Amino acid sequence: MTPAVVPRTWFRPAVFAFVFACLLAGAAWAAPKDKERWDSKYNLDVYLFGKEPTPFLKQNAGLLPKGKALDIAMGEGRNGVFLATQGFEALGLDISEVGLRKAHELAREKNVKIETRVVDLESVKLEKNAYDVVLCMYYLQRDLFPQIKDALRSGGMAVVETYNPDYRKYNPKFPRQYLLETNELLEIFKDFKIVRYQAYDDGKEAYSSIIAQKP
Ligand SMILES: C[S@@+](CC[C@H](N)C(=O)[O-])C[C@H]1O[C@@H](n2cnc3c(N)ncnc32)[C@H](O)[C@@H]1O
Repeated sequence: MTPAVVPRTWFRPAVFAFVFACLLAGAAWAAPKDKERWDSKYNLDVYLFGKEPTPFLKQNAGLLPKGKALDIAMGEGRNGVFLATQGFEALGLDISEVGLRKAHELAREKNVKIETRVVDLESVKLEKNAYDVVLCMYYLQRDLFPQIKDALRSGGMAVVETYNPDYRKYNPKFPRQYLLETNELLEIFKDFKIVRYQAYDDGKEAYSSIIAQKP
């Protein structure tokens, strides 16, 4: 009997393609995308970050020029909804639909209206010269800063706050790339007028905050 001849030319590429596909599937499983991760974190009855704005924003809201406010990575809305209660027209962007749904619930509770859009900030194109205030709180994506600056109108203000290197005292495993460097916000906004700046350690968390005005 003549043995069956297996044409080996197709066999090797097919095996490589199969192994490659398995590796890709494995990588996706090992690192779930931001959307799934944040949707599941926010899938609680309580507000993960609370309903109150950050103290820095609350203390300094009176300095901000009234008008359109963009809240980048709005989450459950504590900061953007607060600005809406202060008379701002607030638009929030976030990848988490669950977070933004809670932001709308918070707005209803406070009797204000907000707008939201589900977007991936890693590929977003922000409208230029469009906002009086741009907030970016506890979301550090460094390549977004040029767009944040461009999105402001002349005289508009950026409000940015997130963890600085001292935060590692309280959370040693927090990924280094998501921590600001010392004075990094001052460097990023060196062509803006610095209205307020602080590097703060409250004994539980350490973070830096800035309000910077576009010339
Ligand atoms: C630490 S939370 C901060 C939320 C809010 N700024 C606050 O201070 O309460 C980070 C937020 O970034 C959002 N996020 C993470 N990756 C994102 C992405 N690629 N595009 C849009 N939003 C993203 C998450 O859904 C989450 O709401």
